[in-house]
Amino acid sequence: MNANQFDMAVAADKKHCWHHLTQHKPLESANPWMIVEGKGMRVKDSTGKEFLDAVSGAVWTVNVGYGRERIAKAVYDQLMKLCYFANSAGTPAAAEFAQMLIGTMPGMSRVYYSNSGSEANEKAYKMVRQMAYFKNDGKKHKIIYRDRDYHGTTIAALSSTGQFERKAQYGPFVPGFVEMPHCCCYRCPFDKEYGKCDIECAHALETIILKEGADTVGSLVLEPITAGGGVIVPVPEYFPIISAICKKYDVLLHIDEVVCGLGRTGKWFGHQHYDVKPDMVTMAKGVASGYAAISCTVTTEEVFNAFKADPSDRMHYFRDISTFGGCVAGPAAAIENMNIIVEENLLDNVNKMGDYLMDGLLALKDKYQIIGDVRGKGLFAGFELVKDRKTKEPTDESVAMAVAGGCMKEGVIIGRTNRSFAAFNNTIALSPALIAGKSELDEILAALDKSLAAVSA
Ligand SMILES: Cc1ncc(COP(=O)(O)O)c(C=O)c1O
Repeated sequence: MNANQFDMAVAADKKHCWHHLTQHKPLESANPWMIVEGKGMRVKDSTGKEFLDAVSGAVWTVNVGYGRERIAKAVYDQLMKLCYFANSAGTPAAAEFAQMLIGTMPGMSRVYYSNSGSEANEKAYKMVRQMAYFKNDGKKHKIIYRDRDYHGTTIAALSSTGQFERKAQYGPFVPGFVEMPHCCCYRCPFDKEYGKCDIECAHALETIILKEGADTVGSLVLEPITAGGGVIVPVPEYFPIISAICKKYDVLLHIDEVVCGLGRTGKWFGHQHYDVKPDMVTMAKGVASGYAAISCTVTTEEVFNAFKADPSDRMHYFRDISTFGGCVAGPAAAIENMNIIVEENLLDNVNKMGDYLMDGLLALKDKYQIIGDVRGKGLFAGFELVKDRKTKEPTDESVAMAVAGGCMKEGVIIGRTNRSFAAFNNTIALSPALIAGKSELDEILAALDKSLAAVSA
């Protein structure tokens, strides 16, 4: 692209595009930020400025990095052979990726394809609701979700999201979704301290199930590590307690791995750090690292079997379709994405570099009083900005915006909680590509250092 073509693209964008999460008034007198190319962990904008991307495409997606020729080639070859057929039929690529995926997920068995994280979660919710009809005339249909978790942008996915500001102005919401407390020790909803508590945040599930009536609760949906809600890592005891309660009351456990899935935390899936056996697992972003749109709702054989139990009933099967769940570019890209993770030992790299990143962030915490808490697992980390370490009062969202803006000036793109909560838009988030090495992490930490110094002055 030459300068003239860039100018034309910027003009067309200003005139016709409506960007995600964007108040467009300021863009009447300024140019939109336009990204034009990417290689490895770096992207270039339309002014020619290069950035190190510490959040994998801004929303933790491009896990294997930009410019992977072998993924592009696999997608090209697939498209030339067969671009699409509705997934009511099979395709070799979809079958091959399903087998590869299930090979990384002990206990799981079936893969249902669609094309976004929200949609993958909607599929799981529909499965739960239909299973309620198989069980007790639809009574066991309620879905419990957790404060601070995010499950997507569509109305049912948003109904199951525990982020007040993100939901504000989009109601009324879908009935049958019930909230349970979050599990962030730093801001314990029970005012307890880890080590001196009974993991009340997990046991609260039982109280809620009993209050709602166990015969009305079909599933519980949880992020393994809360992502956009503030990078919240549950304590080791959390999931075993949750799991036991779900079993006791015949409540399906649905883990939303849209962010943590496919290696982000140093294992294939975030929940594999814990002693837990989910019934349903959803995933999207890292499945094909953004090279094609693909999402998966993965279930146990038991869940799958429930949908073929009564073939004499003409309504007794999962009567759902996703048009673009039949795009074969998705599984073709996902196969190569997974091959790269295996061949380049990226899970190993995530564990080693994750420790390095965590050490770097803890050193920044030692240096800057404004950091209240550092959290994370693997190449997935975040820290909270506070006005005062003793009171833990969160900083205003303008401070997180200033830290992110300062990093941008240094040529590093970082993430932050973005109008998700009234008070807690104070978390900085990092999710560099799984290929990150020490030099890239040093660059990210140096940019944060400068930016934190500026807001602390
Ligand atoms: C945990 C989680 N679930 C679901 C979604 C929704 O995914 P999508 O934007 O692909 O619909 C997201 C998106 O950020 C997410 O973070």
